[in-house]
Amino acid sequence: REVWLYDPGYTSTACCRSAITFIDGENGILEYRGFPIEALATTCGFYTVAYMLLEGTFPADAKVRAQFAKSIQPGLDLDPVVANVVESFPQEAHPMTVFMAATAALSASRPAWNPALVRGDGGSLRLVYRTRAERQRIAQECISSLTSIAAAVFRHMRGCPVRFPKSTQHLREHPLDAFAPDGFARAFLHAADPEGTLWPEQRHASAVFAETLDVIFVLHADHELNCSTAAMRHLTSAGSDVLTCLAAAIGALYGPLHGGANEAVLNMLEEIGSPEAVEAFVASVKRQERKLMGFGHRVYRSYDPRAKILRTLAQQVLREASTEGRTANGPTTANGASDPLLIIAQTLEKRALEDPYFTERKLYPNVDFYSGVLYRAMGFPSVFFTVLFAIARTVGWLAHWMEMLERDATDAERKIVRPRQIYIGKRRQRIPLEAVEK
Ligand code: CMC
Repeated sequence: REVWLYDPGYTSTACCRSAITFIDGENGILEYRGFPIEALATTCGFYTVAYMLLEGTFPADAKVRAQFAKSIQPGLDLDPVVANVVESFPQEAHPMTVFMAATAALSASRPAWNPALVRGDGGSLRLVYRTRAERQRIAQECISSLTSIAAAVFRHMRGCPVRFPKSTQHLREHPLDAFAPDGFARAFLHAADPEGTLWPEQRHASAVFAETLDVIFVLHADHELNCSTAAMRHLTSAGSDVLTCLAAAIGALYGPLHGGANEAVLNMLEEIGSPEAVEAFVASVKRQERKLMGFGHRVYRSYDPRAKILRTLAQQVLREASTEGRTANGPTTANGASDPLLIIAQTLEKRALEDPYFTERKLYPNVDFYSGVLYRAMGFPSVFFTVLFAIARTVGWLAHWMEMLERDATDAERKIVRPRQIYIGKRRQRIPLEAVEK
């Protein structure tokens, strides 16, 4: 007899085995391929971490690393179909909608990226990409293409042409330094603003800006079987092409309970408006009228280790901005230390962590609590925050896609994902003909 477990939200169901990311939620530990996130964030750039997540090892030598970085140079490969799709949206359309649509549209230009049915070692038919080399190439092209799309979406929302100007020719001839620790962030920033006109005061040209962005990308690169990665695996199991899978994952990330929380946090902090208003806001959360966005996590029952790193980074970056006499979106505060929203965020965090309502429910800041404050300091509009998250998470999604298609995955792990439901409706025998419209 079949035994079904009723587990809404999959709070206690493992549906795959994976060697990519380890989380110990009780103790706030996160590791990529067994390496602690704290060490990766301080010693490795995003290119290296991306390689390691996809391949399972660090690049063997500088040549391998440089080749990988050169294969991911956003801005050089914007597909014409994609450019048309981005341009067809109104400038004020939400960037995540445009990003998702453009990613799905790219699938039409890459029919060769569909998986193929081949006979496996055991004789059964399997959906696979034929060789590992082909999967690696596709994964690299996907990262490059999606980063280019994100840059094009940014340019479109700022009212600039999405097709990259001639200056990208310069990039083609002189690729950005793949060895720089912040190489990937610089490549993205260059693709988003090749003429160097979109950021006030050339803020993005500062070393702190690119380095910080690269660290944020590292922190967001993978996070085990979160909602969007589950969507990626779900569609991969159906044999959908990789870009359709990525578009679905982007759709899941967009939700405010998932990646969309970074935008929601900033809106919340702006709505609170001042440290004095924190008390009333917390009271409304405790009356369960509101959620404290950027707090809580399905797996972490203690402080999210990524939030710890981002909290420190936010303090550093904003201190630097204020000593240079500017913050991104307003005057420096009275003590000259910080952005007003950072002060509200810190007041809110302190207040919540002292309150049994939050501690008893094990609600702590998550990765999205401080990332928005940082993005804002860099001058990104809040509607673009989740696209930045998606750029980094594309690597994690693709690492899971590659893992699912590996030769040593078990047959069970290749099965189409097809949960059961518990039917709670009525069962009836007779159609009430008298009620059916003629
Ligand atoms: N504010 C206030 N109360 C909360 C919050 C919150 N942010 N999160 C959970 N709770 C309460 C919830 O009301 C429930 O209380 P009670 O036991 O009295 O009914 C209890 O805590 C358990 O919550 P849950 O909804 O069962 O927890 P979950 O594991 O299903 O949800 C979550 C996890 C992340 C969706 C949720 O904590 C949340 O909505 N947080 C705010 C949105 C957010 O910051 N999301 C980003 C998550 S991390 C990055 C990412 O995934 O991309």
